[in-house]
Amino acid sequence: MGFPHTPHPRETLVLSKHFGDTDARTYKGWVKRGGYEMLNQALAMEPAAIIEEVKASGLRGRGGAGFPTGLKWSFMPREKKKPHYLCVNADESEPGTFKDREIMRWTPHGLLEGTAIAAHAIQADVTYIYIRGEFTEAWDIMERALAEANAAGVFGKIKIYLHRGAGAYICGEETAMMNSIEGKRGNPRIKPPFPAAAGLFGMPTTINNVETLAAVPLILENGAAWYKGLCLSNPKSTGTKLLSVCGHVQKPGNYEVTMGFPLKDLLYDLCGGMRPGRTLKAVIPGGSSVPILNREEAESTLLDYEGCVEKGTMLGSGGVIVFDDSADLVYQIMRLARFYAHESCAQCTQCREGTAWTTKILERILAGQGKMADLDLLLDLADNMTGKTICVLSDSCAAPVVSGIKKFRNEFEAYITGNRKPVIAA
Ligand SMILES: Cc1cc2nc3c(=O)[nH]c(=O)nc-3n(C[C@H](O)[C@H](O)[C@H](O)COP(=O)(O)O)c2cc1C
Repeated sequence: MGFPHTPHPRETLVLSKHFGDTDARTYKGWVKRGGYEMLNQALAMEPAAIIEEVKASGLRGRGGAGFPTGLKWSFMPREKKKPHYLCVNADESEPGTFKDREIMRWTPHGLLEGTAIAAHAIQADVTYIYIRGEFTEAWDIMERALAEANAAGVFGKIKIYLHRGAGAYICGEETAMMNSIEGKRGNPRIKPPFPAAAGLFGMPTTINNVETLAAVPLILENGAAWYKGLCLSNPKSTGTKLLSVCGHVQKPGNYEVTMGFPLKDLLYDLCGGMRPGRTLKAVIPGGSSVPILNREEAESTLLDYEGCVEKGTMLGSGGVIVFDDSADLVYQIMRLARFYAHESCAQCTQCREGTAWTTKILERILAGQGKMADLDLLLDLADNMTGKTICVLSDSCAAPVVSGIKKFRNEFEAYITGNRKPVIAA
């Protein structure tokens, strides 16, 4: 299986430089390309020096929240009184996101190298890479790469294990993931205590996303200043971002661009624009959990953490979901709500009941049995689902509903007034 597109000249290939190159997947091929040199150097460095370099680079977590990586690592106790753990989040269950899968498929040793450097920096005794259950090909590739690297003895004392998820969205949430690794039901934990104080098996733990860690060897190789210089807009957002584009563009796929890249150029230039005769209606820029942008907003958004917030949304995981004028947003939002209702762990009442009722009301509207008051009811429900639960799954269900009603209210009203034919059975 090849890389789905010839890189566009406006892409900045840092993490995806070797995508499509099957030789880079092997241990020998990786070493030939300079791989594991940074790990060797890092193992000779003081952990604190690595943390300082990563801090200086401005690297922020690519799993969704954008938390500064070096700062997160510095929360781990310096004086080691208990075992330390590192968990690598390769669950990638956010709808619309498929970039961690490609990192694992094409540069498994790059991820392993970044993982081992991070493990050394936080003094982790054991590391688990938690891979989404459905990623069968990525799992096989990672398993082979880990066996090769272990046979070559590149990790020193660092122990790395692969752990397979069973296909639950919630297990991408870091505390649910730790419960899952411990063999428990994947329910999120209340914070505090934060993982750096009491995480996996109650021990100090750091959790990082695949894309975050894959960037670490490159930061050490080229220096923090180089990484910091990869910035087109706001200096608080540095480096490159892999964007998974899906939906109504001519060329969907993963695109790697420098932080601050205009969304408009991503859609119309890199992705070849809309399908013939179609125009852009809406974009969800950061995986399904973030507010929807209308066309005008999307065409003026700069893709970095601040640029997205400025438009009332989030960069999230970088899953860019594109809708053209043929899309039925009421139906699409109902499908998202159905997903969240299915994936809610059901611990919190607001989430368990809220996601289910949101789905039911949206289904009722799509079946032609909605009332105008349902729109206010949906907004009221969303308000009760936001900021009130253990994790933000509930907020994630509310975000597309609230932004959808606010920006595309006429589409909801058309079903309620009978101007649009029902699309699902009552
Ligand atoms: C419901 C939910 C699902 C999540 N799914 C993922 C996921 O699939 N992958 C991921 O890296 N982070 C996911 N996160 C974020 C993680 O909890 C965590 O913040 C992240 O792995 C930290 O890594 P980073 O600092 O490198 O971004 C999810 C969060 C929530 C609330």
